[in-house]
This record gives sequence, C-alpha cells and structure tokens, in this order.
Amino acid sequence: MEIIIQATPEAAADVAARIVARQLREKPACVLGLATGITPLLLYQKLIALHLDWSGVTTFNLDEYIGLPRGHPQSYHTFMWENLFKHVNIVAENVHIPDGNAQNIPESCATYEARIHSAGGIDLQVLGIGTDGHIGFNEPTSSLASRTRIKTLTPRTRQDNARYFGSEEDVPHHVVTMGIGTIMEAKQNLLLATGQHKAHAIAEAVEGPVTSMNPASILQLHPRVKVTLDEAAASGLQRAEYYRWVYDHKPDWQAL
Ligand code: PGA
Repeated sequence: MEIIIQATPEAAADVAARIVARQLREKPACVLGLATGITPLLLYQKLIALHLDWSGVTTFNLDEYIGLPRGHPQSYHTFMWENLFKHVNIVAENVHIPDGNAQNIPESCATYEARIHSAGGIDLQVLGIGTDGHIGFNEPTSSLASRTRIKTLTPRTRQDNARYFGSEEDVPHHVVTMGIGTIMEAKQNLLLATGQHKAHAIAEAVEGPVTSMNPASILQLHPRVKVTLDEAAASGLQRAEYYRWVYDHKPDWQAL
C-alpha cells in the first residue's frame, strides 16, 4: 500500500485526481470503478475541471440502494449523473451502475459481474471507506471473497447516511454492492478518505490485521493500492512519518 498524506481534503483530492487523470491519459479506453459519497465529490469536481477526454471510458459504480427510484435525489444513479457524468463527454451506454430496481436482483448482479469481465476488468477502482471500514457497501463480516450481491446496511451506516436523506428512517436497509472479491480484481485501487471520523477505520485498514471486521483491510493483500488521506484521516496511523518520508523522497522513476 502506498499511503499519501496531504495537509487538507483539497490536496488529498488533488493527488487522487492526478492518479485518475493519468489513467485516462495513458489508456483512453480504460475501465474505471467509481464510488459515491461526500468524499469523492471533490475528486469529481477536480476531474471535471481538468477537461479530460471521457469518450472512450467505461465505468462501473460500486453500489446502489435497493428500491429507490433511479431519479430519486439520493439514488447513486442521480449522484453520478449530477456530480460527474453530465459534466464530461462520457457515452451514456458506457456507464454502469448496479440496478436497485431489477425484477431479479441476483440475476442482475451476475450480469453486472459478467459486464465487468467482458469490458476487460477494472483498470482503476476509486474507493471511499465507511466509518466501520466498509468498502462499497461491504459491511463488517462480509465475505472477503464476495461478488456483487444484496447486502443489508448496518445501523451505523444508516446513521452515517441519514445526513443525505434528512432522517435515518428514510435510508434504505438494502443495497446492491460489488463484492470484496470483485474489488480485489481491479488492477489498481485508489482509496480516498478525509476527516477525523475516518481515522479509526483507516488505522485499522492500513495497520491492523486483515479481517472481515474491517473490510478495507483486505486491500493489504492487493498488489497495487494507493491510499490518499488528509491529516485528519491519517491521524490514527502509527507510521505516518514513514509514509510522509516515502512520498516526499520518491525517486523520479517511481512517480505517481
Ligand atoms: P462518505 O462515504 O464519503 O460519504 O463518507 C464513504 C463510504 O461510505 O464509502
């Protein structure tokens, strides 16, 4: 894991935007995995401002609520179109978001996996992290080998997400999420976390044991992971000084 600590959420998002932009420039027909939530918003704003060419890009989102109409203000379909897709030249057919309204959800999950596979797999997966360590909506004790499927949100995640819905009661209980096994097959993972409320989950994910109690900790077993953090999210790390030194002394050949 490469841990990149920046002074502010803005600077952390800048680094993440450079990593994504580089992927798009190096492989214009790349496959991106995308995340929702407050954390990637800054990243998406920066990507929009870079005026990159998205015409060849295919995207797969991590997750979606079950039962919210597509056009609901809190659906991840709405989130992605409002905050990224409508501002770039992506081709609508190349956008994939799990369908939380499918008649047969298990079948649509299997189709989602097959589409990722036939697109050639995900080149770069953007991830956020829950305060409980979830990635996608893979809550603690999710199978570390799981594939795209239905999950039930924990009370903590429903509390965390109540801020978007206005009240906790309105947050759906069920979601469709890529599995941890799906995320682990991405060629590269980029986890972005900001804020003090993420410090504990990040410390466990980066420096704790690999355990389904903190699903993000599985990323320790992935060969190519970058974790971009602001100071607050990095504040629980024991080896922060070391990570800073590594990043500040990167030889040219090892550039981002
Ligand atoms: P947040 O969500 O960016 O809104 O904090 C992160 C997540 O739950 O993955």
